[in-house]
Amino acid sequence: MLTITGAPHAAMLGIGTYRASLVVPNDDLVDAIDSTDEWIQQRSGIKSRRFATPEETIQVMSVAASRQALENAGIDARQIDCVIVATVSHMMQTPAIATAIAFELGTDKAAAFDISAACAGFCHGVGLAADMVRSGSAGHVLVIGVERLSDITDGNDRGTAFIFSDGAGAVVVGPSETEGIGPVVWGSDGEQFDLIRQKEDWRDVIESHSPEMPNLVMQGAAVFRWASYEMAKIAHQTLDRAGITVDDLDVFVPHQANMRITDAMARAMKLPAHVRIARDVAEQGNASAASVPLALHRMILDGDAKSGDTALLIAFGAGLAYAAQVVIVP
Ligand SMILES: CC(C)(COP(=O)(O)OP(=O)(O)OC[C@H]1O[C@@H](n2cnc3c(N)ncnc32)[C@H](O)[C@@H]1OP(=O)(O)O)[C@@H](O)C(=O)NCCC(=O)NCCS
Repeated sequence: MLTITGAPHAAMLGIGTYRASLVVPNDDLVDAIDSTDEWIQQRSGIKSRRFATPEETIQVMSVAASRQALENAGIDARQIDCVIVATVSHMMQTPAIATAIAFELGTDKAAAFDISAACAGFCHGVGLAADMVRSGSAGHVLVIGVERLSDITDGNDRGTAFIFSDGAGAVVVGPSETEGIGPVVWGSDGEQFDLIRQKEDWRDVIESHSPEMPNLVMQGAAVFRWASYEMAKIAHQTLDRAGITVDDLDVFVPHQANMRITDAMARAMKLPAHVRIARDVAEQGNASAASVPLALHRMILDGDAKSGDTALLIAFGAGLAYAAQVVIVP
């Protein structure tokens, strides 16, 4: 008979983040897109965003966030058995950036791979990591969400220029005496594959007479409708699967896409007033795979979330892909 020797429970043991260093207020972007600070704030809730310098690479930001997460968890890099990097803006298709990050951190030949689930990537990674710990595939897993979306955003595109940003967030997932990560509820709607995507694939770029970066393009209004209505249902399913209700929540950390989507979801979910809501998008913009850990960590640092709180994470984006889980705050 085959045996499985995993931990009975998994939890987030530590968290770390790295915010790209350039603070870019709306006023710096509006001329190129014939917009105003007021319009952007009203439609998205974004006041400023973070852009990376050339030195702040995917690897540099990931390693910085990860070292913080390891220290926060009290875990040595050699205890990490697997590194999962969620990103859509690592420009080299192969090899995965995860192997370079695992090596730089000093892991002992940890398994390392990248996943592409856009803004939902981090929550996919946390779901995988928890199942790996519980099944015995890994003792500790480092999950990183990292993006340099400024590399693939057209500063002249009115629908995207003010939305996307750069940064990294990481958590250590490991064994725990009580359950700290509820079942992941995830899925996709490939019928809407075209709503957020790169303009063209790399082969088309190379074959073009005037090659340009295949920047992100988005049908904003359709994404807005889908996220506002469909994701509230997924949020409820996630609470049901974890065996709790909105009344048991302390913290709500939705993907930081747009403040109006966050508010629409909170209304549709009938979140009680005591539930504190992540609003990192105002100063960070949408950092895709890094958005949820950046938002959660800000809440911890600001005192809006504390260790032991019950939090609902939910993320959604290109694909369309989504993933959500209830977690205990590390
Ligand atoms: C991008 C977004 C803010 C645009 O807002 P919107 O209300 O849908 O805007 P629309 O494209 O319908 O345009 C509405 C009007 O604003 C104008 N407009 C569009 N972009 C503008 C800009 N950047 N500045 C000023 N005006 C703008 C349009 O020309 C249009 O004007 P009109 O009514 O005179 O024709 C909104 O669709 C959104 O946030 N979508 C979700 C995107 C998202 O979160 N994506 C990430 C998910 S992972």
